[in-house]
Amino acid sequence: MPPRDTLRGATIAGTGMYVPDRVLTNADFEKMVDTSDEWIVERTGIRERRIAAPEQVSSDLASLAARRALEMAKVDPTEIDHIVLATTTPDRLLPSCACTVQKKLGATRAAAYDVFAACTGFVFGLGIGRALIRSSAADTVLVIGVEMLSRIVDYTDRNTCVLFGDGAGAAVLKPCAPDEGILAVDMHSDGQLGDVLEIRSGVSDNPPSERTVKDGEHFLRMQGKKLFPFAVRSMEDSIRRCLDESGLQPDDLDLVIPHQANLRIIDGVRERLGVPIDRVYVNIDRYGNTSSASIPIALDELVRAGRVAPGDALAFAAFGGGATWGGTVMKWTLPVEVATAKSSLAGEAASMRSAS
Ligand code: ACO
Repeated sequence: MPPRDTLRGATIAGTGMYVPDRVLTNADFEKMVDTSDEWIVERTGIRERRIAAPEQVSSDLASLAARRALEMAKVDPTEIDHIVLATTTPDRLLPSCACTVQKKLGATRAAAYDVFAACTGFVFGLGIGRALIRSSAADTVLVIGVEMLSRIVDYTDRNTCVLFGDGAGAAVLKPCAPDEGILAVDMHSDGQLGDVLEIRSGVSDNPPSERTVKDGEHFLRMQGKKLFPFAVRSMEDSIRRCLDESGLQPDDLDLVIPHQANLRIIDGVRERLGVPIDRVYVNIDRYGNTSSASIPIALDELVRAGRVAPGDALAFAAFGGGATWGGTVMKWTLPVEVATAKSSLAGEAASMRSAS
């Protein structure tokens, strides 16, 4: 390894997001399970979430978000060296979702692969992309978080069904000066906590059968109460570790973008860090928990609204099944006028499923 200070940095040169048109409100859930708008809002902060159309697949959502990120970064798909796609809900196990996205984008030079780290997947993707760029193994990395959790949620289980939504977010990483862009990435896992959030039927373990379908073993099951304190503690710890590595304090942060799992978890992290409420971005009311897509969706909303300027210090933090957790601190580099330029893709058809 060359000395650290001779390495180049890696930064986000473009962001994009896509969420499906269909909205599922808390009132819709009142007709499906024994719940209420009041309970969902009070316990989670969620008011509505987006649900993909039956003909859409994860790679469609991912490709739409990726096109928008590439347009902002002024990068042609053929320039991409790596596509790192974070998901728990790929189109299929083979081919990988990343390879299908590669085909849909025409990113002919890219090495493409999926990262399975649940809600922390996008943060892990940034860690991988940053390492590739800093080591000069790649010049252009597309990191995507995409989920169609509606396909693995049991809509008769009120403990989980109200929480999750579908969506995709993407970021294009490019080299930058070593003291700018992504300053620190923190990545952790603890397989001992594997049963806290799981799908019981798998591939080599408990493969699909008539019984697994009958017993609902293809659906996501969660021990929400166990996850809650772990979520707050792990996201705070990751942000603090990234701040230490970057030589920054919580007060220096202009924006914290936490994984959107539960408003009470976000509030807990904010209180423990001592960051003012207006510096912590929340959109869980509109999208629910979109797992690996939640941070890049939130980031794209902020970037396109002109709320992030060069020099701003940003922190991302996530936790998820596995268990996994991690964080990122970055010094933003993209000019506001580039980020807020009108997109020619804004009206792109929602269902762009191309023939496979
Ligand atoms: N409507 C009404 N009542 C409900 C609902 C619902 N939708 N869901 C659960 N309840 C009930 C429970 O059955 C329980 O009833 P009981 O006391 O009669 O048994 C009661 O509400 C309280 O349940 P708790 O589990 O104590 O509720 P809590 O305040 O912990 O909130 C929640 C539950 C929202 C799941 C919370 O624990 C949480 O957000 N945990 C973290 C979960 C999370 O972030 N998961 C995502 C992981 S990330 C990833 O990788 C996908």
